[in-house]
Amino acid sequence: MITYQARSALRRNTSNHCSKHVSFCAPTKRTLTLATRSRSDSLANGKPLTTILVTPQGLRRSISTVQDSLHPRSQTAASASQLASVPSSEVSEDNRKIVEDWLLFHPTYTKDEVEAVKVVHRANLTLSDRVADWAIGAIRWTFDAATGYAHFDAKKADELAKKRGATLSLQELREAGLAMSPKLWMRRFIFLETIAGVPGSAAAILRHLKSLRTMERDGGWIHTLLQESENERIHLFSFLEITKPGRFMRLMTMAAQGVFTSAFALAYVISPRICHRFVGKLEEQAVLTYTLAIDEIKAGRLPEFDRKAPEIAINYWRMQPAATFLDMLYQIRADEATHRFINHSLADLKSTDMNPFAMREPSASIRGTEPGYDREKSLAFSETVKEDLLKRHRESGKAAW
Ligand SMILES: [Fe+2]
Ligand SMILES: [Fe+2]
Repeated sequence: MITYQARSALRRNTSNHCSKHVSFCAPTKRTLTLATRSRSDSLANGKPLTTILVTPQGLRRSISTVQDSLHPRSQTAASASQLASVPSSEVSEDNRKIVEDWLLFHPTYTKDEVEAVKVVHRANLTLSDRVADWAIGAIRWTFDAATGYAHFDAKKADELAKKRGATLSLQELREAGLAMSPKLWMRRFIFLETIAGVPGSAAAILRHLKSLRTMERDGGWIHTLLQESENERIHLFSFLEITKPGRFMRLMTMAAQGVFTSAFALAYVISPRICHRFVGKLEEQAVLTYTLAIDEIKAGRLPEFDRKAPEIAINYWRMQPAATFLDMLYQIRADEATHRFINHSLADLKSTDMNPFAMREPSASIRGTEPGYDREKSLAFSETVKEDLLKRHRESGKAAW
């Protein structure tokens, strides 16, 4: 019987996303080791009976095999046998720990791409845009008040320094509410990410149920929405490797999740368009928040964050082993910009349109600097991707026609 971890790796190795997004398959220096065991053996003594060891080389080999094909399902058996052929003697008990349990596609970025991300806002063009904008304004105000959030205001800091006749220390800036402490930033990040993971999964479930109910195909939206929610959940776990919230924070999270999930699901049934616009604007705020946090670190007002990135983040974004917390924030901000772009674009589509990003997303530089595509641009992008995939398929010599 293959354990959860092994199943995850096999599914990732044979994911059709690898044929679309080479960046997912970027090499890692880590060796992911997975253990399998038979049910009876595990019940008898809890030790692994059979072991699968996945080396980075093996991982890349099986992935590149999949990349060569637009029919990834046919590669599953080959990849599995390749993995199983690795000797079992190199495995320790520690290797049964879950290392990488994310399964869905997520982009990784170059340094230039993450640094090029911009704070942009999509203009309100319709009544539904204004409704979404109003909802975001209300939520942001409540959230800021609840988490004690305040942007660093250089003008106010100067005025206070003049009044006191001396330059303010970092501690004084924090006590005056002009700079946020690392504790407040972490509280905000964690709370933000527990909420940000809701819309994608709620919308995906609703579209899935609709597809079952109406017996009509979804058009490729469900996976993109699930990818977004898993991506947000990994943001959360990256922060949780640094700070563990207390009971009050957990209670608040549970309450907020109950209210927000119900309200969002209801709103999605009524108007998916407003909901995607709402998420697009929520992501605009997320990009802004992470940009301000990055600026604070670079300005030296958060020396506590001068530390190594958590292990999960290094694995997830395939960063260098020496990557820092700041590097991680750049990656997260680029993800938020992607969510911004995707949701604003989906908001411009009819819910019966094909998801233009089901097979491929525009480049990171477009996602990072543009708020989204309008419907015309999305449909044109979709056509271009389709043509390109068909061309590659024909050129591979494996076409059936
Ligand atoms: Fe996030
Ligand atoms: Fe996000």
